[in-house]
Amino acid sequence: MHNTRDSFGSKFGAIAALAGSAVGLGNIWKFPYEAGNNGGGAFLLVYIFFTVAIGLPVMLSEFALGRYSGRNAFGTFDRLEPKTVWRYFGVLVLLAATMILSFYGTVAGWTLEYVFKSFTFSFHVGTDVDLNTMFSDFITNPYKPVFWQIVFMALTGFIVLAGVKKGIERYTKLMMPLLFVLILILGIRACTLDGAMEGIKFFFLPKFSELTSQGVLSALGQAFFSLSIGMGVLLTYASYIKKDENLTSISLQVICADTLIAVLAGIAIFPAVFAFNIAPDSGPGLVFLTLPQVFQSMAFGQLWAILFFLLLTMAALTSSISLLEVIVAFFVEEKHISRRKATVISTVIVTIFGILCTLSFGPLKEVHIGNLSVFGIFDYVSSNILLPVGGILISIYMGWRFDRRLLEAELTNNGELKLWLLKPLIFVLKYVAPLFILVILLHSLGLF
Ligand code: PHE
Repeated sequence: MHNTRDSFGSKFGAIAALAGSAVGLGNIWKFPYEAGNNGGGAFLLVYIFFTVAIGLPVMLSEFALGRYSGRNAFGTFDRLEPKTVWRYFGVLVLLAATMILSFYGTVAGWTLEYVFKSFTFSFHVGTDVDLNTMFSDFITNPYKPVFWQIVFMALTGFIVLAGVKKGIERYTKLMMPLLFVLILILGIRACTLDGAMEGIKFFFLPKFSELTSQGVLSALGQAFFSLSIGMGVLLTYASYIKKDENLTSISLQVICADTLIAVLAGIAIFPAVFAFNIAPDSGPGLVFLTLPQVFQSMAFGQLWAILFFLLLTMAALTSSISLLEVIVAFFVEEKHISRRKATVISTVIVTIFGILCTLSFGPLKEVHIGNLSVFGIFDYVSSNILLPVGGILISIYMGWRFDRRLLEAELTNNGELKLWLLKPLIFVLKYVAPLFILVILLHSLGLF
């Protein structure tokens, strides 16, 4: 068959797209507040440990599997395991992508509103607005956040529609370097605030007494979430990587970029949190409450505010396109419908679920399952259950079931590259990763 499948045009393009998927709201919005809730430096250490010890092996497996199969996540298992239960892994992947993208769109919508607020001088130097009230008025409003969510999802659909090389790669190559420079500048500025040291100490000095077992689970969930692993996003993207690229080197670069941006986000946010007396455990609103204060205190604050929220939106976009691509690639390759139709259908489905998440801060506030809102459920189930389960399954599949010679061939490009870590990799995939993830998962569900 003539191969017309799209692919990334260059190694940098592949890394930009993959790092674009990894670096997102998870790094800049979620990581700092999770660290704030769970003892600062202690959380950071556990997080880095999970990233290296479990994140890297699972990421490598997804890369190898995706590039080997050359298909979307669902199709990969459908082809390789047509008659076994492994086939249903694809369903889990689609469910996780839909759930994550739903609540992701909510927060990305908030960032768009903040871009707009920055343009309209809502928090430039000398303005005396109560940022807390501003934030809560906005997220409880029944229309505005929904409007921005729809705009965001339309942007996501627009890029995905254009394809892998002309859409995803083209935009991420542009946005990722910009994002990096900006977060670096903001970090430096935050460190020069009066009282910044308190924040730096909070972020880097581990206080293990404040780290609960729930916090350890959150660190694992966060590592998975932030690296985009355990749910077929990387698998799908890897299917677009050319056969002569070095998967190990790509994964190391993606992991470094992702961790670096999370740490830089912490450095940009915690000094401001302490300098302006904000509670480090203020949860999902943290970034929206703290950074505007920094901007208010900066020369050209408005400009920085615009740039920051614009780039936060871009970080979100480069991740949301990777989530949408999982669903679109499924429709295109498995259901044989055009990319255009597939993109429209997927975007509409996700947006509908997403609106429910958004409204759960306002009109649907009273709707609770257990003690979680719709948004909370989507976040909890996907990050703390589906991603770990996905991680366990990928590890077991690659460690026990997938042909080791094929794995080795994929990671060494058929023997051309040296791979010193194959043995430890298999060991981690077979035993360490599944057991570790399982224990933490069961514990968090109160079953262990
Ligand atoms: N990694 C992204 C972030 O940190 C979120 C994401 C999760 C994207 C899972 C794709 C898959 O924001």
